[in-house]
Amino acid sequence: MKLKRTAAAALAFALPAGATFIFISCSTTSHPIVAPLEIPGAHDVGNQVCAQCHADIVREFPASPHAHLALANAGAPGGSGCESCHGPGSKHVESGGAARFIINPRRDPDACFRCHLQVRAAFELPDHHPVIEGRMSCMQCHDPHGGDIYKTSGGLAMARRNETCAQCHREQTRPFVFEHPAVREGCTTCHDPHGSVNRMLLTQADDNLCLRCHAQTQAAPGRIYIGNVDHTALLQIGTCWSAGCHTAIHGSDVDPRLRY
Ligand code: HEC
Ligand code: HEC
Ligand code: HEC
Ligand code: HEC
Ligand code: HEC
Ligand code: HEC
Ligand code: HEC
Repeated sequence: MKLKRTAAAALAFALPAGATFIFISCSTTSHPIVAPLEIPGAHDVGNQVCAQCHADIVREFPASPHAHLALANAGAPGGSGCESCHGPGSKHVESGGAARFIINPRRDPDACFRCHLQVRAAFELPDHHPVIEGRMSCMQCHDPHGGDIYKTSGGLAMARRNETCAQCHREQTRPFVFEHPAVREGCTTCHDPHGSVNRMLLTQADDNLCLRCHAQTQAAPGRIYIGNVDHTALLQIGTCWSAGCHTAIHGSDVDPRLRY
């Protein structure tokens, strides 16, 4: 298709030296070269034109990983990252901002899956956040415009990633008398945020989830210790977080060994 080949050519030949890495990272994570969006009769105008009326968004945008989307449409003055997601803006601008001449993806995940095919695959795994089902949207965890893409759009207080999860999961993110330092390293230490083959979105289904930080030692032949506790029999029961064991995995108010 002609359109695609033009975009591919722009990507291959219009790269400034500093952007080579982006190109490599795109090809290794296999971002498809997508055809630009179309709005009948409209052409690209570039981000600086949008700035006349959407100054706040244009001002923060250069720090976004999506600012590099300018590469896909390098012809437009000032880059055309905005138009990669919103479609060519000339008729919207000429009309003084008529909404019918611009695309607003709102909560539609397909607007993101166009480029992030692997993310779509993650949301189709057996355990997943209900985004494709329409009960959640990408924008509850990502800001498509902002310098911090891991912050929810408009949510100043959400700068830390765990706080993004805290919007909906209060119990796991509240303060505890006995905290588990693993949680401070981030919820994604143990959970895939999009989807997983394991229940509870876990990154690993078994004790290996814990053993990468808590080394097993063989204190005596056939005896497995974790910390200074003999776990030989305990490890036969089930996972480390099975009933009776470290069930309060996110933190406990009663037991320093993370039990209820
Ligand atoms: C001349 C001023 C002006 C310029 C320039 C302008 N816009 Fe707008 N834009 C507006 C106004 C006004 C609205 C609100 C329209 C409404 O709510 O009916 C708007 C709304 C939007 C919306 C939301 C539409 C919706 O359905 O909610 C998007 C997305 C948007 N603009 C993107 C852009 C992009 C991208 C550019 C640059 C290519 C741009 N705008 C340039 C004035 C402008
Ligand atoms: C990665 C895709 C993407 C890019 C790039 C992008 N946007 Fe958006 N934009 C969105 C999505 C998604 C929404 C809807 C957000 C929502 O409803 O929570 C949106 C909403 C908007 C809106 C209407 C809502 C609002 O926040 O006022 C405007 C205006 C807008 N974008 C302008 C821009 C401009 C200007 C640029 C470039 C500086 C830009 N966008 C770049 C995806 C994008
Ligand atoms: C036109 C293609 C395109 C669209 C549409 C698009 N993205 Fe992206 N996105 C990219 C590229 C290219 C990168 C930067 C390269 C990379 O890191 O993989 C990126 C980076 C990201 C990152 C950061 C990845 C990292 O490595 O930290 C997130 C998160 C993201 N996009 C979310 C979204 C969301 C949410 C939407 C929908 C609102 C969206 N994207 C729409 C192309 C796109
Ligand atoms: C529940 C919150 C949440 C939702 C919903 C969500 N994300 Fe993410 N996403 C994250 C977090 C957290 C990371 C960082 C993962 C890490 O650091 O290991 C991430 C990483 C990414 C990345 C970069 C790494 C990768 O997996 O490629 C992209 C791209 C991305 N998200 C796109 C999307 C898109 C597109 C949607 C909607 C279809 C979406 N996300 C919905 C939380 C979310
Ligand atoms: C906008 C609300 C929202 C945000 C933000 C959110 N979640 Fe969720 N989470 C949900 C919903 C809804 C479910 C599904 C519950 C269901 O299906 O009954 C869920 C389920 C889960 C589950 C359990 C999965 C299962 O099998 O039941 C885990 C673990 C989880 N989320 C972790 C996270 C993490 C980690 C983050 C931050 C990266 C996060 N969530 C951000 C709404 C959210
Ligand atoms: C050390 C690993 C680890 C970390 C870090 C972690 N979790 Fe979990 N989480 C687990 C395990 C293990 C389970 C499964 C418990 C079970 O099977 O009952 C779980 C379960 C959950 C559930 C489902 C609870 C239920 O009963 O339905 C949610 C929601 C959740 N975690 C959210 C989070 C959030 C939010 C964070 C970050 C603040 C986080 N987790 C950090 C290990 C972790
Ligand atoms: C990212 C690293 C990391 C992961 C993954 C992790 N932990 Fe931890 N955990 C720690 C650190 C650090 C401490 C505090 C120092 C210590 O006691 O080793 C701790 C403390 C604990 C304690 C309290 C020990 C005591 O005697 O006070 C328990 C119990 C525990 N973790 C269980 C688990 C379980 C069960 C898992 C798997 C679901 C797990 N941890 C996963 C880092 C981690």
